Amino acid sequence: MATFKDAPLDPRLTYWQARHQAFDETLARGEQRLAAKGRLRELRLPDGLDFSSNDYLGLADHPLIRQRLRDALDAGLALGAGGSRLLRGNTPLHEQAEQAVAAYKNAPAALMFNSGYDANVGVITTLTGAGDRIFADDLVHASMIDGMRQSKAVRHRFRHNDLDHLQQLLAEDRALKAQSGRRFILIESLYSMDGDVAPLSAIADLAAQYDADLIVDEAHATGVFGPDGQGLAAAAGVAHVPLVTLHTCGKAWSSFGAFVTCSEAVKQRLINRCRNFIFTTALPPWVAVHWLAVLEVLQHESDRAEKALTLAASFRARFAGRLDMGESQSQIVPVILGSDPRACFYAARLQAQGFDIRAVRPPTVPRGTARLRLAFNAKLDAADVARLGDAFEAIMQEESVSDG
Ligand SMILES: Cc1ncc(COP(=O)(O)O)c(C=O)c1O
Repeated sequence: MATFKDAPLDPRLTYWQARHQAFDETLARGEQRLAAKGRLRELRLPDGLDFSSNDYLGLADHPLIRQRLRDALDAGLALGAGGSRLLRGNTPLHEQAEQAVAAYKNAPAALMFNSGYDANVGVITTLTGAGDRIFADDLVHASMIDGMRQSKAVRHRFRHNDLDHLQQLLAEDRALKAQSGRRFILIESLYSMDGDVAPLSAIADLAAQYDADLIVDEAHATGVFGPDGQGLAAAAGVAHVPLVTLHTCGKAWSSFGAFVTCSEAVKQRLINRCRNFIFTTALPPWVAVHWLAVLEVLQHESDRAEKALTLAASFRARFAGRLDMGESQSQIVPVILGSDPRACFYAARLQAQGFDIRAVRPPTVPRGTARLRLAFNAKLDAADVARLGDAFEAIMQEESVSDG
């Protein structure tokens, strides 16, 4: 019997091989240019003591959460949603999770998204449009930037956490007559590469003064700040102000996906018009089980957030005035080293000593602010942080010797 190997070679095969190869070579030249600038991104496996993941509460291997998932799967829970939410992918568990997260956030409604990236792009493109004006902090996440880019609204950026600049832009906008659309202010409550927090109350006041709607990304604050980890808006007593808040579940919750909290009317608008919600397969129902289990844990284990924050504060205290840690006030502590090679040098030294710490370079952060992003989590203890501190001291000493 003739086998596949004996089949005549498709003469078009060589055409396609050559065509793909030529394209691969073009792409590779682009990556070589990045490598020459020291900017090539590479996938690396986790290795060493975790000072870099967003598993701030250490929930990735929580026994109760594992048990809840195991029980649900053993009871026959479907492994996949089987479709988008508007088709067959909407299950009672999705609705239960949405009700639970809305109640957790004291919000009228919540809607699940497949990722925080989708949520930001989807919310911004659905709620803002032609005639509207967006005012976004300079350091908002790429997903907010992509949402703005896809929106037909006019975009303004204000200097990071600079209330005067925001007010100036809002005042200039208001001075323009005959504007019919809405104003939207876009911020994160806790900035992911800097670990500093937004002046939420003051921004809420400005939003009221200039009739603007606030959209707040709580990706890195959810689970860590506020009562039961409700976020910084709740901690600041302004949870009722934002039109929409976004919470990712892949960070402190150590799960996957995201949810937004909003009014029922906003939720209905998203269900009806948001392409990132409509045209995608729903999260598997076990993600909803995962979220429900996390909510259970958050009610009883608030000491986890406290621990991560205390460890970060102890590192900051040890190096205050000796390392540039920006305005960090959270579990995220940047060590801003300036040049890319300096950040890579520190990262390599720390990795060699068993710490999983990564250099973050432009374009992820502004030029000249290459850094290490330290993320403290509840699985670490004081001895780990002391050891990290000693390693920093040694590198700083090595640097001063070679400089001198
Ligand atoms: C501030 C912020 N918003 C949104 C996202 C996107 O969330 P997700 O990872 O769920 O897509 C991230 C993730 O890096 C983030 O840091």
